[in-house]
Amino acid sequence: MPEAPSPPRLAVFASGGGSNLQALIDAHERGDLPAPVALVIVNKAKAGARERARKHGIPEVHVNLRGVDLREQPDPDSRILELLRAHEIDVVVLAGWLALVSPRILEAFPDRVVNIHPGPLPRFGGKGMYGLHVHRAVLEAGVEQSGPTVHLVDPRYDEGPVLAHIPVPVAEGDTPESLQQRVLRAEHALYWRVIRDRFCEPA
Ligand code: GAR
Repeated sequence: MPEAPSPPRLAVFASGGGSNLQALIDAHERGDLPAPVALVIVNKAKAGARERARKHGIPEVHVNLRGVDLREQPDPDSRILELLRAHEIDVVVLAGWLALVSPRILEAFPDRVVNIHPGPLPRFGGKGMYGLHVHRAVLEAGVEQSGPTVHLVDPRYDEGPVLAHIPVPVAEGDTPESLQQRVLRAEHALYWRVIRDRFCEPA
């Protein structure tokens, strides 16, 4: 019998609280998502995602992308690529990563970098559209539905091919914060399923 291929190893890139990271870890721990989170990279020293990773024994590394000093060796992209290689990463998962992914990283992981966006794309995406800004724009537009979108990442903000979207109705009296909470719950239910279906062999 040929050996079953081992599930892909995920690196999660996060800038914030890391609730999406947590949902991926939980899905793996309960056996729903074969792929383990094998590395967490944050670009903010205080990102809550770090503590979540540590609690589960997952290596986490802070990489400073700001104020890049060209004398700094290695530069941030090389450092990230080195980490991805060292941890034998197969798929890069952006979960609240508020920075562009450089072409060098995208070239090293063709069609293997995914992002979750907290609103419909392309209408509510682009530079500056993240977190509460998205929910505010959705409410200002007066649309009836929002909902998270998972897409492959290309060098521009929120423009790669869409893999999945689930609609979340906008409720009467919603604030950006209340809509954010409802969309976040949908994100947590959606992201691991898309990663499983796209990157894991069927059991
Ligand atoms: C999530 O809502 C995610 O969709 C959004 O940031 C939040 C991170 O929350 N990402 C973007 O806006 C990217 N454009 P988390 O840190 O609790 O997972």
